[in-house]
This record gives sequence, structure tokens and C-alpha cells, in this order.
Amino acid sequence: MSNKLWSLKWDKDTLILLDQTKLPQTITYLYCKTMEETANAIRRLAVRGAPAIGVAAAYGMVLALQNELKENLTGDELKQAFHKAGKYLAGARPTAVNLSWAVGEMLSLFDRTDEKNALKNLTVRAKEIEAQDRKICEKMADSGAELFKDRTHLNILTHCNTGALATAGIGTAFGVIYRLHEEGRIECVYADETRPLLQGARLTGTELMQNEIPCRLITDNMAAWVMAQKKIDAVIVGADRIASNGDTANKVGTYGLAVLCAYHHIPFYITAPFSTFDFSISSGDEIDIEERDPDEVRKYGNCYAAPENIPVFNPAFDVTPHSLITGIITEKGVLRPPFEDAIKQFERSL
Ligand code: MRU
Repeated sequence: MSNKLWSLKWDKDTLILLDQTKLPQTITYLYCKTMEETANAIRRLAVRGAPAIGVAAAYGMVLALQNELKENLTGDELKQAFHKAGKYLAGARPTAVNLSWAVGEMLSLFDRTDEKNALKNLTVRAKEIEAQDRKICEKMADSGAELFKDRTHLNILTHCNTGALATAGIGTAFGVIYRLHEEGRIECVYADETRPLLQGARLTGTELMQNEIPCRLITDNMAAWVMAQKKIDAVIVGADRIASNGDTANKVGTYGLAVLCAYHHIPFYITAPFSTFDFSISSGDEIDIEERDPDEVRKYGNCYAAPENIPVFNPAFDVTPHSLITGIITEKGVLRPPFEDAIKQFERSL
């Protein structure tokens, strides 16, 4: 395995996932042979980040079919079992729409394909979804970098992890940062540690250091002061689900950053591919926000940092209202307000 980090690989009949829960201390891989193992890895964030979850789910559906065929299921029985697997996998994490999008793609392809060719066709489609994600990351990076084309010495603040670990390619928001760094235009990237599970510290920190991007790690509650003191040029983050009006669910803490940006007159950009848009919902009110294990908040790493029985509220995501978003960087350019119109046009272009 190369030193460069990657989130997932398909090898013949196995989905290999880098176990992100162990980073940065240990590099270990999970070898998923079943859809259930894939769902479990998604649930416990061994693989995470909206686009990576989507790609993993596509391969998870291949694993489901592989095993159902081994059990000699055919006809209606096979169809029922495959759709049941899709429902189970899509339920592993409710907020990132890429997951249900990828499962939907595999289900509809299965329904259109004859049984004899189903496994082959579904494997090809999962590989396509992975390759497409990689290409889209490059395009988003180009669109995003274009926003800053006359600028140097940029100070960018970001949240959570949106890089190679969160996608099949160079990342969403991190891809833009990566491109700006390649072009020599970054002075410093400020990375929020991203409590409770520290995706910013553990994962973005690792990716920034690996790519030798000048950076400073900050705790989440330092963001306001950093904006006031460090002349932040833009905040760039990813997304887990974007409604038709532009309201955006992303890692909890994103909404706070958007509010801070409005106060400090700092542009606030979302970066996301088409598969993160939920064109079927009109606003963020319809987004199901995942609530996770209270121990994620009570603990810091493996240690309790709070009374073991203290009641906890642990939403994994929040929704940033579209009015606080400067632009949404996509593979087809930057969408600008009014987002309802821009997103309709984006949907038509797909
Ligand atoms: O809970 P996670 O780690 O899956 O949350 C990830 C995020 O919120 C990312 O910002 C989002 O998926 C965009 S990723 C490219």
C-alpha cells in the first residue's frame, strides 16, 4: 500500500477501507466481504465524508448481490433481498444524501438488468461512480481556485475533513485548498479540530501535513478570534446534503462559522458535487439530522472528560441557511444566490 492516504479500494470481490477511526496513530485496513460489514463501517465512521460514503455504498450493494447470488437466490426472491439490502445500507447514516443516491443508482440499475449480467453491470457501475467522484473533485478544485485567481497569501479556514479521506479523489473543499496550494497561493490553512470526533485534527491535520500545506490547527472555539486577528480570506467547507433553496447540512459547527463569517464580512463557500444535492426537498427543514452516541461528547479520545452519565445532545450535523452562503462550488462552476434559480439550472445541466 502506498504512503499517500486513500479512503477505499475495490479489489476483485472485496471492498478495502482505510479504518479512519484509528488515524492518525495507526494505519489499518478493513476488508469488507459483505454489505453488513460495509454498513457497519459507515455507521462507525471507519469510512466517512459524504462522497466516500456514497462510493462505499455502491460497492456495498455489489457485495450484497454477490452474496445473494452465492445463496442461489433468483427472481422475485433475489429482487426482494437486494432491495432489502439497499434499505438497510441506506439507513446506516441518514444525513449524507450521497449514500441514498448511490444505493438508489444500484437498485435502479439492478431493476433494469437481467439477472445473468447483474453482478457484472453493478460492479462496472460502482467503479464508474468511484471514477466519476475522482474527476468531479478535480473540477471542483478548478472552479474553486478560479475564485481566487488574482490573489496570493490566502488565509483559509476549514472545518471537518473534506479531502482524500472523505472522497475517492482529492476532496471537495480540501481539493480547492489543495489546488490553491499547488498554485502557490496559500499563506495558511486554519483547520478546526472539529469536536466531538476530531475529523479536523486527526484527518485534515494528517492531509495538510502530508501535502506540506502551511497550516495551523485550532480548536473550534478559536474560530471567531482567528477571523478577527488573522485576516481570513474565506471559509471553505464541504456538505452532506444541500436542499433546493441552498440550505446546507454539514458537520456540526459549520453553521456557527457561517454566522461568524457574516459578522466579519468573510466569504463563506460550500464545495459539493451533484450527488450531495437533494433536489427533492425545498429547504433544510426537511433534512434528517443524525444524532450519535452521547459518549462521543462525554469522551475525549478514550477518556471520559465529563461525568459518565451526564445527559448529552449530539447532533452530527447542522444546517446553514442559504442566506449565509456566498457561493456553492460545484463541478459545473460556482452557484450564486438566488440559489433556488441557480440550483434549478444546475439540476437541468446534469
Ligand atoms: O461525520 P463525517 O465525518 O462523515 O462528516 C463529514 C462532513 O461533514 C464533511 O464536511 C462532508 O461530508 C463533506 S465531505 C467531502
